[in-house]
Amino acid sequence: MASPNTESSALPIYTRTLPVDPEQIGTITFTKPNNFLSPWTFTPSTSDSGANLLAAADALQSSLYPVAFPTETVYGLGANAFSSAAVQGIYTAKQRPSDNPLIVHISSLDMLRRILDPLGTNAANGTECIPPIYNHLISTFWPGPLSILLPLPTGSKLAPEVSAGQPTFAARMPINILALALIQLCQLPLAAPSANASTRPSPTTAQHVTHDLGGRIELILDGGPCTVGVESTVVDGLCTPPAILRPGGISIDQIRQIPGWQDVTIAYKDTTTSNAPRAPGMKYKHYSPTAAVVLAEPNTPWSQIWQRIVHDNTCKTVGILRSRTWPDISSIQGGVAPSQCFSGSASATVYNGDGGHHKLQVFSIALGRATQEIARGLFAGLRELDLLGVERIYVEGISERGEQGSDDDDNDDGAAAAAVMNRLRKAASEVV
Ligand code: TXA
Ligand code: MG
Repeated sequence: MASPNTESSALPIYTRTLPVDPEQIGTITFTKPNNFLSPWTFTPSTSDSGANLLAAADALQSSLYPVAFPTETVYGLGANAFSSAAVQGIYTAKQRPSDNPLIVHISSLDMLRRILDPLGTNAANGTECIPPIYNHLISTFWPGPLSILLPLPTGSKLAPEVSAGQPTFAARMPINILALALIQLCQLPLAAPSANASTRPSPTTAQHVTHDLGGRIELILDGGPCTVGVESTVVDGLCTPPAILRPGGISIDQIRQIPGWQDVTIAYKDTTTSNAPRAPGMKYKHYSPTAAVVLAEPNTPWSQIWQRIVHDNTCKTVGILRSRTWPDISSIQGGVAPSQCFSGSASATVYNGDGGHHKLQVFSIALGRATQEIARGLFAGLRELDLLGVERIYVEGISERGEQGSDDDDNDDGAAAAAVMNRLRKAASEVV
């Protein structure tokens, strides 16, 4: 059995990246059409994608190295949630603080019931063990980017490292078909944090995972870029009133529409509340590239940011992550005379108006105007600017309520916007 070497001097291991095409993995058979909340089965195909998915399932059952796999939100780093040794492998690979609990990923409600009812008592009595507060939430948002807190049952078979000292565990059923099929194939709940090295931006492509964890894990399933781009919303329905512990792919407004959830409170830190974070992970440095991130509040005029950049003689390479109002770098007038312009970047001698000047290189990435495009590209943009070696990244903030007049579904828009600003506030060393 392959097991991770916990010594920091350990030789790097060979990391294989296996491509999987969601169209080619195999056949799903439902008991109710297109319904993953009722029993369903998966038969892998004989194609390369089917074989690669099987190889990943096999590794999750037999190796102590975690496996990276795509979900709709971000790439996860999965391990058998029942095995302490396997879950410890996640903490080792990520260098994650040991008091930050993990989300358990499931592919069916029966899998969740087996976790909640380890002694089979409810099953024998025919009683439901999923707390009723979650009924409507699950039927509306699962599978999808929502994680719910559940009580750790007496005699729990989950590895203690999953809940990391909490009396609860978080569970979610992802909607990404590769993730669902993988869990269904190994018939194991998978503990899976985001597959980045601790403190780094979450990975939204297999290449991001390779960058952070190559040489530290054996297997990465490459299913292409994630569609949502920010992590799941984490909710606690075990307290009264229920609480949102982390904003994510499902919006607060969407959750408020669910019976029993009208009075849901916000228990994460943002500009509107000073509550301490109750998801342990939210207190750590997070989502951060190597470069210092300067977050501009929404509607900060570009001219104000540009003046800062121009007058900062200490910083010679600057990254810009723009979305709705900031201009294309090649159209910047006044303070800069681009000597060289190529896609998204300008080299310039900057005259700062005090008679002084300094050389500056600016790399600009346009995330797009739509909130969901911004969410999808956010972590990738931060990572790309880091790879270009910029010293400081200026990010154009967006309204937490989403884009007015958006063509997108309003709720999805608000969810993505709140999550984007939450992640940026955590990544930023300065907010202007
Ligand atoms: O979208 C997602 O949720 C991704 C993908 C891979 O599914 N996963 C993810 O995991 O973001 P991670 O470990 O990066 O974030 C999990 C968050 C942390 O803030 C953690 O503190 C919180 O969920 N959490 C997990 N279990 C908890 C518990 N029992 N009580 C309170 N917070 C918990
Ligand atoms: Mg994470």
